[in-house]
Amino acid sequence: MTFAIQSHISLKPHNTFGMEVEAAHFCQLDDTAQLPALLASSAYQAGPVLWLGGGSNLLLTRDYPGLVIKVALGGIRLLEESADSVLVEAAAGENWHDFVRYSLQQGWYGLENLSLIPGTVGACPVQNIGAYGVEVKDRIAQVVCADLQANGKPLLLENADCHFAYRDSVFKQEAAGRLLVTAVRFRLSRQPQLKTGYGDIQQELEKRGIQQPTPLDVSDVVMAIRASKLPDPAVLGNAGSFFKNPVIEQSQADALLQRFPALPHYPAGPGRVKLAAGWLIEQAGLKGYRQGDAGVHARQALVLVNHGLASGSQMWALARHVQETVRQRYGVELEAEPLVW
Ligand code: EPU
Repeated sequence: MTFAIQSHISLKPHNTFGMEVEAAHFCQLDDTAQLPALLASSAYQAGPVLWLGGGSNLLLTRDYPGLVIKVALGGIRLLEESADSVLVEAAAGENWHDFVRYSLQQGWYGLENLSLIPGTVGACPVQNIGAYGVEVKDRIAQVVCADLQANGKPLLLENADCHFAYRDSVFKQEAAGRLLVTAVRFRLSRQPQLKTGYGDIQQELEKRGIQQPTPLDVSDVVMAIRASKLPDPAVLGNAGSFFKNPVIEQSQADALLQRFPALPHYPAGPGRVKLAAGWLIEQAGLKGYRQGDAGVHARQALVLVNHGLASGSQMWALARHVQETVRQRYGVELEAEPLVW
């Protein structure tokens, strides 16, 4: 099956920071049947290769000298259904939020808290997206992959094989560069099992006078909360949370909490504590801070924004400044969440 490789293509429409950088070569994957020829092509063989979903978890600081492949695989299929649940497969290139809303409209529940997260279905298992008390690993049954070292041969990973953790999976670790996610299979419930205990969800439902919320109500409320805090990439370039919430040793957390009793923190497994990085950054005085057009978002300090003409390297310099300030003030390392090229 054929495909077209183009040269000198702007990546501006393909990254939510809106960075104006160029790919030496670019092509789109519309069908997994294209994979054997694509993997054998000289552009692929010469490398380097960057697989791209929605470009919403990516900071490009310079031109890409190799091949950028946009995963545009489409389709949603119902594989199994019973009285209680469904198994539904969505192709990697499907827009995440559109898929979430579609599933709710079908009466397939469980993804409502993950509404309005930018990006594609194929990216969701890679960093195990999460919000408002739900991680996508809680809803994934299997991940369909292509083995890039075996001619694109299909491979089915069970949930346990994916080694999901907070914003992490096998696809970011051992299998990075080897397994391409081509579709994701979700086990969704026909009975609503709402999780409204996190953050402002309950409060926002009450404000709307909703006493018995449906999953669509929860989705609407999550969308409203996100829209009030998180910048719309179409208006203000960003990649969501730029840093992970750091997970540290209990002893270090205890010492920090002595100094900063208000620091929000959450249990993160035996002897480990997760800290709210947004709080650390805000209390270090950096919320709304700007270096030219590169800024820390004024309503959510975990998000870095491009106010217009910041270059990728200016964004990265700002990120380093935030990391350094937090390191000096609290002795805590902030790890960048997006892929930085
Ligand atoms: N906080 C501040 N100042 C800030 C931001 C947050 O003090 O500027 C405090 C909040 O008051 C709250 C705590 O930090 O006590 C947590 O804040 P929030 O609920 O906004 O969530 P977060 O930990 O900052 C995480 C995810 C988001 C997800 C939200 C909601 C990460 C890295 N980020 O942010 O995910 O939407 O929870 O569940 O885990 C993303 O990954 O791109 C993303 C947006």
